[in-house]
Amino acid sequence: MSDTKINKILFVGSEATPFAATGGLGDVLGSLPAALKGAREELDIRVVIPMYTSISDSEREKMEKVCEFTVNLSWRQQYCGIWSCEKNGVTYYFVDNEYYFKRSSMYGSFDDGERYAFFCKAVLEMMPHIGFFPDVLHAHDWQSALTVIYLKRKYRYFEEYSKMKAVYTIHNIEYQGIYGFEILSDVFCLDSWDRYIVEYDGCINLTKGAIVCCDKLTTVSPNYANEIQTEYYSSGLHYILAMNRDKITGIINGIDYDNYNPETDPELRRHYTAENQLQKSVDKSELQKTFGLPEKRDVPVIAMISRLASHKGFDLVKRILEEMVTCEDIQFVLLGTGEMELEDYFSYMAGKYPDRVGVKLAFNKSLAKQIYAGADIFLMPSKSEPCGLAQMIASRYGTVPVVRETGGLYDTIKPYNPEDKSGNGITFKTYNAHDMYDAVRRAVALYKNKRQWKSLRTNAMTTDFSWNSSAVKYLEMYDNL
Ligand code: GLC
Repeated sequence: MSDTKINKILFVGSEATPFAATGGLGDVLGSLPAALKGAREELDIRVVIPMYTSISDSEREKMEKVCEFTVNLSWRQQYCGIWSCEKNGVTYYFVDNEYYFKRSSMYGSFDDGERYAFFCKAVLEMMPHIGFFPDVLHAHDWQSALTVIYLKRKYRYFEEYSKMKAVYTIHNIEYQGIYGFEILSDVFCLDSWDRYIVEYDGCINLTKGAIVCCDKLTTVSPNYANEIQTEYYSSGLHYILAMNRDKITGIINGIDYDNYNPETDPELRRHYTAENQLQKSVDKSELQKTFGLPEKRDVPVIAMISRLASHKGFDLVKRILEEMVTCEDIQFVLLGTGEMELEDYFSYMAGKYPDRVGVKLAFNKSLAKQIYAGADIFLMPSKSEPCGLAQMIASRYGTVPVVRETGGLYDTIKPYNPEDKSGNGITFKTYNAHDMYDAVRRAVALYKNKRQWKSLRTNAMTTDFSWNSSAVKYLEMYDNL
């Protein structure tokens, strides 16, 4: 390891809790920076995201305006305001421009490419204005990929940017930022000699550009780091990843142990710990009430909380749920929104089996926590899963995960062995509905054996899913740059 320590880091991404988030990326940007700071006190770590409409007034009230300037995006001259606030020792910046970010939803506009190109240009331009030139620019997912490309293709020729290193993290390779070449210079401000940097499969691919330009590429679990180098998981990028394999490291995500804590969580009716799990059953009957299910103590509640997208394993669930709820004495609850076909399917199932299936088509953080606490079994049969946070949160709340052995699910959940009582969940390998059903059956059988279930649940609750060890791995990676 080298002697020079990295002290100044700027995280760039499209979302961060508690300000604006739609998924796991937001959780990571909301909790990893503070964990890094916890692991190295002298670290000056800052985060920048867009100033979306959805950021609440109570968060806005804590912010201060830092500066404003004009960003030139090709022929456009756009206003840019920078706001900031402190959270757990970390400075968060917000890039303000109402034309780009005053929208009813964070993603999905026709001009997302232009919106995030503006954001990325603004991030590099803001550095002299805020007087902060980081040692490491750490960009997350395609929306911030252009910061890596701009740094290496344009800004590094200026003194202050010349020593800056770039790290790029892939949270999900399925979203790459793919555009036609007609906007290479007009929107992305790239020159024709930059074309080969971003070109992939006849298109502009921003993720590919960041992979090529970054000094270090990370992804959110060691297993996913291997998987994305294979055709099955790479969404087409395996060649470029295999060529850059020396840059790749997989570091598992953690969860925020203060926010997710069954001992103190204000969203729960009753609190409990790994040592004393008794009150969890009260949270269970509350949950059954919420979903209009019979309050039966001994019937296991199987839960899913997820974006309703087929790669989360819903093909399997759809194939087998009806058989499962009619053949087994179980209750099934689901919270999530997403693909219309899946929403329709689950509404139909809830209507048909009102005592066994409970469905809420919503994104609701309080209810999510009540489910993590009140359920017995947590199902995550993903087709691919870069890391997955829900299986870790469920474990922390003593809800035993049943997962497919893929990505970070494989790294975090080890099958329970009744002989030596090791393992913290139930797993299955093949992406097949009956293999999933078999895993659920194994979980239900264990659930009926009170002694075994208690030791499995205790293993789940006591597995360390905090950021502690991963924060140290990130710091080592930065120091080695
Ligand atoms: C993405 C991935 C998820 C991961 C999260 C945070 O949402 O799909 O598996 O946990 O990013 O890295």
